Amino acid sequence: MKRYLSHPFWQGVIVVVASWVAFEYVIGYVLPVIGVASAPVPSSVIVEYMLIVLVGVLLYMSADEERWQRFREPIQATMVQPDRRTVRGILMVAFPVLIGWLAYERVKPSYAAPATLRAVHPAPPNQITFRGETIELTGLENPLHEEGSLEEHLAVGKRVYVRNCVPCHGDLLDGQGHYAQAFNPVPADFTSSGNLPQLTESYVFWRIAKGGPGLPREGTPWDSAMPAWELILEQDEIWAVILYLYEQSGYTPRTWEEEGEGGHE
Ligand code: HEC
Repeated sequence: MKRYLSHPFWQGVIVVVASWVAFEYVIGYVLPVIGVASAPVPSSVIVEYMLIVLVGVLLYMSADEERWQRFREPIQATMVQPDRRTVRGILMVAFPVLIGWLAYERVKPSYAAPATLRAVHPAPPNQITFRGETIELTGLENPLHEEGSLEEHLAVGKRVYVRNCVPCHGDLLDGQGHYAQAFNPVPADFTSSGNLPQLTESYVFWRIAKGGPGLPREGTPWDSAMPAWELILEQDEIWAVILYLYEQSGYTPRTWEEEGEGGHE
């Protein structure tokens, strides 16, 4: 053991390995966890630090002729001496395999959701087709305000919500349904002042009819789990659930007059 510790080559190896452990785990994980540093260190920074350490070790080793000789000894011996054949053979296989594995790790596709900011309320299209029928969204009002009784519409809306929306958007309309945690982005929270009151009923109609698949390309990636309800619900059922959402949350929809003053966020 002592023989190794006093040998320049192993000293160099120890310094490099210890620095790597310090950068990768202490700075990278321990400090952020105990709250000293704010975020893990990016891997490119760690690579840079490691290069600096490596250059430092090599400079130190080669600064003194005798130390440099001793430092190179084991490397040279492993490369040429007949009795080191086995070690040499192992290294000649292990080294390319290691490099290959590192390269593979780098290029292999990752399935983690990208940490991209998304436009929560992208601009809606001017018109959509609903089961083949063209619907003009601009200026569109909820037709149920003009017909039937509000009570009946709310009863329909409640039924639609409880049957179809609760698993994701939750009993309390707060986006905390049983499935909610499985999705990124999480289901919309209808109790938030940032959602329903900012939207016209026509906008909400579009989002329910076309769901995640109907979102425009802007602000991609869209990996929204919001289903397109167009083929499952009738138009009136969607309008009814919209009435229900506003009634339950206590908000009033954005009007088209307000809409003229500024677009969606
Ligand atoms: C499988 C889970 C799931 C179900 C079921 C579901 N939603 Fe969603 N919904 C989401 C997710 C996730 C989002 C947020 C991402 C997005 O905007 O597409 C969302 C967003 C929305 C939005 C947009 C809100 C905003 O602020 O832009 C509306 C409106 C909506 N849902 C209504 C409904 C209604 C009504 C139902 C039932 C008929 C329903 N959802 C069923 C997952 C679901």
